[in-house]
Amino acid sequence: MAGLSVAVALGARQAGTPAETMTPVAAETERTRPLLPHTRPDCAVQKCVALTFDDGPGPQTRALLRMLRRANAVATWFPVGEVAAAHPERLRAIARAGHEIGNHSWSHPVLPRQGDLTVAGEITRTADVVERATGVRPRLVRPPYGALSPRVRVALKQLGAPIVLWDVDPLDWKYRDADLVHRNVVDFVRPGSIVLLHDIHASTVAAVPLILATLAAQGYTFVSVSDLFGTALRAGRVHTDHAAA
Ligand code: NI
Repeated sequence: MAGLSVAVALGARQAGTPAETMTPVAAETERTRPLLPHTRPDCAVQKCVALTFDDGPGPQTRALLRMLRRANAVATWFPVGEVAAAHPERLRAIARAGHEIGNHSWSHPVLPRQGDLTVAGEITRTADVVERATGVRPRLVRPPYGALSPRVRVALKQLGAPIVLWDVDPLDWKYRDADLVHRNVVDFVRPGSIVLLHDIHASTVAAVPLILATLAAQGYTFVSVSDLFGTALRAGRVHTDHAAA
């Protein structure tokens, strides 16, 4: 998967460099104004949808944050630890803008093929990086490729992690076409959906304003995964959507 190779390349290039001492590129040091104090949406009465961004945060994080801000939209990132460690300033910008950050493992392996110690290490090492960058320890875990096994679920439960999958997958890693990604999202979203996107692809970032405009016109509110579920999130449980009953 492209995301994985990018992550590995970045991780290798930055190996041995403490994240705190790295100099962020200029485009990523500009200040972002925080969102207004967070009001939890009521997804029992509102049409809610959770956009999620995996495998980054990508190089266009700042542009993506501006798009979301213009649409008054909140989203959730599932960063790969290797990428996050190389770009803590991206994590800080995401958190400062009021979005949610979860955990997509350190090196994007197929977790069911790893031993229990490796699974725990993949998750806790990434959580440490996110917490160091943002001050908030991520709780939500999205397993790479959505790959799970009963053993991995037990391990994630022991780590206190609700497992977050998705019900809408536009295959944006495969179709590098903003119009097609847009259509593949809006044709399948329903209230309570979780949408899988990868912000490491320019075509996906280009699709986001289209997705926001179409779904906003249909009355959707863009919320974080935690806001979508409220108190219904459970460690070790798989959450794919939160459709109204
Ligand atoms: Ni991934």
